[in-house]
Amino acid sequence: MKKGMIILIILIIIVSCFCILKNNKKEKVKKEDNPYQEFKFYKKDYLERYKNYQLDYPSLSYKDIVLRVNMNLDNSFYTNTKEVTEFNPLMLVNKYNYLGKDFQVPTLVKVDEFAKEGMMLDKDTKDAFIKMARDAKDNGLNLRAISTYRTYDYQANLYSNYAKTDGVNNADTYSARPGFSEHHTGLAIDIDNITKVYTDFKDTKEFKWMMENAHKYGFILRYPSDKENITGYIYEPWHYRYVGVKVATYIKEHNLSFEEYYYEFLDN
Ligand code: DAL
Ligand code: ZN
Repeated sequence: MKKGMIILIILIIIVSCFCILKNNKKEKVKKEDNPYQEFKFYKKDYLERYKNYQLDYPSLSYKDIVLRVNMNLDNSFYTNTKEVTEFNPLMLVNKYNYLGKDFQVPTLVKVDEFAKEGMMLDKDTKDAFIKMARDAKDNGLNLRAISTYRTYDYQANLYSNYAKTDGVNNADTYSARPGFSEHHTGLAIDIDNITKVYTDFKDTKEFKWMMENAHKYGFILRYPSDKENITGYIYEPWHYRYVGVKVATYIKEHNLSFEEYYYEFLDN
């Protein structure tokens, strides 16, 4: 080979290496500029919102920033809301995701055991609840469904009574506005132990049993004390949501709220 040819090849190699290095550096800088994009639930349209939320909450991890903005927590509760139109056993109804006045649960059935008169639930939720209540009974414990499926109008009346007697701000901490209640999905149950008022459920043996066993039947404690900032509701030891055994077990093992699970695995 001629000397000139060899020099040319070496030059081409040097220039190529230089270009690759330069591109890599560019890539790296881009990634550092945008640490949110590594998560599969990252939404590119929300980049500015992630950055702004990070300024407000500098100690949160990048993952939590992305998840919380996706949850819409950078907007006040009941703003930037979205209607959920399809029934789905893993649907999310909360202060940002609501059901229309005419939303129907296609799988509603009566709960004729372990429940107050006139209770209705989604069929799978009811079956899981009855199984759980029977097993609790075998352990000498009483679980009773005291509030299950609620219509829009029922919730409207309930919320407006609370708001009248307690003020809107207080009512909003424990009662959902109509359309925004998980009870409207047929997938939620308020439980007592018959002898104590439901607001004291956390002081019962039944509650302790639920904390150890509810996930085995597919139920999660929907409004835990350490997730109030995410759910927007105060601790409700009596309110359970059916999500199936697999999801309930994951949520319990990872100490998540349903919102955290939903936005990590189900939002698309
Ligand atoms: N108490 C729950 C949050 C509801 O009203 O649906
Ligand atoms: Zn409830």
